[in-house]
Amino acid sequence: MLYLVGLGLSPDHLSEEARRILSSVETVYLDTYTNVLREEDILAYERAVGRTFLRAQRKDLEDGMKKLIDEARRKDVAIAVSGDPFTATTHVSIYVEALRNDIPVQYVLGISIHTAAISLSGLQHYRFGSIVTVPYLWKESPSFYERIHRNMRNNLHTLLLFDLHPEPLDMKTALNALLYWEKRRRLRVIELGDLVVGMARIGREDCFRFVGTVEELLDVEWGDPPFSLVVPAELHPFEEETLYTIRRYVNGRCKPEG
Ligand SMILES: C[S@@+](CC[C@H](N)C(=O)[O-])C[C@H]1O[C@@H](n2cnc3c(N)ncnc32)[C@H](O)[C@@H]1O
Repeated sequence: MLYLVGLGLSPDHLSEEARRILSSVETVYLDTYTNVLREEDILAYERAVGRTFLRAQRKDLEDGMKKLIDEARRKDVAIAVSGDPFTATTHVSIYVEALRNDIPVQYVLGISIHTAAISLSGLQHYRFGSIVTVPYLWKESPSFYERIHRNMRNNLHTLLLFDLHPEPLDMKTALNALLYWEKRRRLRVIELGDLVVGMARIGREDCFRFVGTVEELLDVEWGDPPFSLVVPAELHPFEEETLYTIRRYVNGRCKPEG
């Protein structure tokens, strides 16, 4: 049997169902490829389920998919994934391949950045268009920038996630990447003075959210990845009120201290 288990965005998000499965299967592979995981969080997950995980990289999950499926034919194997297991195509492919090979699959959904970042941005979920990833090689093509424009044409906000490989892209690089293509393509996606929402380490105790202008975000000390960014389309008056209230009263750390 194969288990695809979402861990949520921090050890505090581990569900009872996830904990039960991860502590009872024979082998647990931890996906260290599709998200940033702090060593101390990995240890906290391991403590919570009372075992150690085998670390799985891209080669183990993609090239090694057949091996994983064969293993799941013989014993109970779990793949533990930060966030929700079905937000990355890699895990959907493993799911499909397992079912095609008559391997039963059980999954556990998890709190995902796809909803958590939108919730924390203060904007309305139904007003978001497609999620866009800022690629590591952002200078090679403006397609990520054009995808934001496509959302904006439909008056939809954009959640931007950042590439993690070969190393996690940082907030300032991503903002500068957007400004770089704005200067060349001039589609009026983002300009200095526009209000955007930057978020870091959502779900963790050091989570940080900042509503501000592009230049204010460029000035912030963002700390360690992972990061997400929301580029709003036209704001509904209620959304505008929410953003300005967050900005005025609780800008910065996500959770009150103490
Ligand atoms: C491929 S997505 C991970 C999706 C994950 N399976 C999920 O469902 O949440 C990885 C990207 O999401 C964003 N991200 C992930 N976790 C985050 C967090 N805790 N805080 C802010 N951004 C995060 C970063 O841009 C990161 O590069």
